[in-house]
Amino acid sequence: MNESVIKTLVVALIVCLLCSLVVSSVAVSLRDAQNLNKLNDQRIKVLQAAGIYDDTKSIEEQFNSITSKLIDFENNAIVDSFGDIELSTYDPVEYSKKDGYFTPIAPNDDIAVIKNREKFGKIFILKDSENNLSKVILPIRGYGLWGTLYGYISLSSDLNTIEGLEFYEHKETPGLGGEVDNQKWKNMWVGKKIYGVKNDVQFQVIKGSVDNESQLAIYQVDGLSGATITSRGVTNMIAYWFGENGYKEVLGNLKNVNKT
Ligand SMILES: Cc1cc2nc3c(=O)[nH]c(=O)nc-3n(C[C@H](O)[C@H](O)[C@H](O)COP(=O)(O)O)c2cc1C
Repeated sequence: MNESVIKTLVVALIVCLLCSLVVSSVAVSLRDAQNLNKLNDQRIKVLQAAGIYDDTKSIEEQFNSITSKLIDFENNAIVDSFGDIELSTYDPVEYSKKDGYFTPIAPNDDIAVIKNREKFGKIFILKDSENNLSKVILPIRGYGLWGTLYGYISLSSDLNTIEGLEFYEHKETPGLGGEVDNQKWKNMWVGKKIYGVKNDVQFQVIKGSVDNESQLAIYQVDGLSGATITSRGVTNMIAYWFGENGYKEVLGNLKNVNKT
């Protein structure tokens, strides 16, 4: 009797071990494919934010027209490389959690509630046929109601006018905060400006509808109904990423280079 119970347990243990071996080896073998899918999904969002995504062409081919660079936030400079960072797959969000590669944000400055900022950001640059800067696409992120929203925003060559916006990950409620993915709402962003005449961030997702007669209309987008907290989160993320601790200085430098 005892012997048969032990035998049953041994067989069960062997089956468990074999199953866990199969599951873990499948998980490991699929990791590269999963990472590639994640990267491609983000690349599609970059192309969509820039308004150039064509689903009949390969992502690789379309991405060839985009130059990726790093943003050295400490020196507000655009650089081609740093250390062992592999530019094509570099994910600033991943590095914002990696020891030695991020700076904690002082609570007073952390208006987007992201806690840490990567030392090196990423910028995607699109040039026209005459090699002039045509658009830039920049990663943005910030807390909404249920979690952090991750996305990309594209600016035209004046480095102020919005060309497009896409989120690739968020936890907001479908139909409420989840309307950040609604194409009609995203279309409202196109043509709006981030910086005002004094070069301060003026852009806001307001509560209610934009009054087109208002002088501020050029900086405003309608709030998402029933989702004031998400709307405020989006406003704050723009204020953070286009403010002093974000892309402001680097965009200013790029603007000057662009003029010469
Ligand atoms: C189940 C549930 C999900 C909600 N999801 C969101 C959301 O994703 N984003 C948001 O801002 N508000 C969400 N809200 C509403 C907020 O709790 C809050 O009432 C709302 O942001 C206030 O916005 P309003 O002034 O436009 O109504 C949710 C509420 C409930 C009950």
